Amino acid sequence: MFDFITEEHKMIQEAARDFAQKSIAPIAEHFDETGEFPIDTIRQMGQLGFMGIVVPEEYGGVGMDALAYSLALTEICKADASHGTVMSVNNSLFAHGLMKFGTEEQKQKYLVPVASGEKIGAYSLTEPMSGSDAGTMKSRAVLNDAGTHYIINGVKSWVTSAPYADYIVLFTMTAPEKKHKGVTAFLIETDKPGFARGKKEPKLGIRASATSEIMFDNYECPVENRLGQEGEGFKIAMTVLDAGRIGIASQALGIAEAALEASIDYAKEREAFGQKIGQFQMIQQKLADMKTRVEASRLLIYQACLAKEEAAKTGARYSLEASMAKLFASETATYVTKEAVQIHGGMGYSKEMPLERYFRDAKITEIYEGTSEIQRMVIARSLTGLR
Ligand code: CAA
Repeated sequence: MFDFITEEHKMIQEAARDFAQKSIAPIAEHFDETGEFPIDTIRQMGQLGFMGIVVPEEYGGVGMDALAYSLALTEICKADASHGTVMSVNNSLFAHGLMKFGTEEQKQKYLVPVASGEKIGAYSLTEPMSGSDAGTMKSRAVLNDAGTHYIINGVKSWVTSAPYADYIVLFTMTAPEKKHKGVTAFLIETDKPGFARGKKEPKLGIRASATSEIMFDNYECPVENRLGQEGEGFKIAMTVLDAGRIGIASQALGIAEAALEASIDYAKEREAFGQKIGQFQMIQQKLADMKTRVEASRLLIYQACLAKEEAAKTGARYSLEASMAKLFASETATYVTKEAVQIHGGMGYSKEMPLERYFRDAKITEIYEGTSEIQRMVIARSLTGLR
């Protein structure tokens, strides 16, 4: 039906499904419970090429397109959203910006190890007092008198993978008076003096994906580690988030698919009042609505992937398509996982089954990489051209 899905796409989807079901699904509960970072399986995902799917082979990736990335990420998240979070940050939030805006030297030094999964990348935009309003950050980078280094100070928050990241794409102010036009991006090496990590955030869901604050205290960043030009940072951050939002939509789809499949199985097995619960119209209505929203999410994600590929040729933006996919798929994930818990009754609420984990994991997809409110703002602005 979808002739844009090639044999290659099906192969990477199959490879991801196979790895996810054999190696991730059996350990997902343990890592959710303990909140440990699943470093071994993350490294294996790197060896299999999942950490740099859209990155060209000469930069350590497998050189496939947005659809391949989305299909693989959905399969990983169907087994465990936490593994998917690490994969999406490496692929979209770290690698995409570097691919688009990095110098050859920066790509060789930072993109190759992250895309090949040898190193872990992160992306840091948010601050304690600047989340949705991303252009109002308080951290600063000041060029030293010799013009060789930027001195960075400040605190960034909610940085996914920060506790384990080797490199971070950081967005900070070089010219605060220019507001968003004063934001500049830098490549940070986390083993250098002046960099520190805060405590791991205790989270509701995606508990095996580590998140923390990061602190800069007179951190010296060489000029050659500036990503793009001074003042270009906000545009880079937003460009990267468009790619990232397709990843989060794919993650949401994976979580929703897992919850839906479990619910269908349960509806066919569980009996009440002398019949299978799937024979009750109230359960049928839930399953029908869950399935319809899952498939609508998938179509919006396909559309966003195709728009991203088209944009790579034309230079156009695909913010509208990416935000619609993220908005609908994330709200579908919270809806479907909530209904899945309800269909399973007490078992849905129990840690004996993964439904309550899906329910907790789904919520973040409506929050990170732009809340649902921000996605609606992006969509409406794209329609009217008004700000
Ligand atoms: N691509 C390229 N440029 C873009 C763009 C995009 N998608 N979106 C905006 N821009 C440009 C605009 O064209 C404009 O450029 P000019 O000044 O040259 O005209 C500039 O950026 C400013 O645009 P806006 O006036 O629209 O900016 P704004 O301040 O009103 O903000 C916003 C727009 C959409 C609300 C944006 O701030 C936003 O997306 N906020 C949410 C941020 C977010 O998603 N944060 C979480 C990310 S990180 C995370 O979740 C943690 C993690 O580790 C996973």
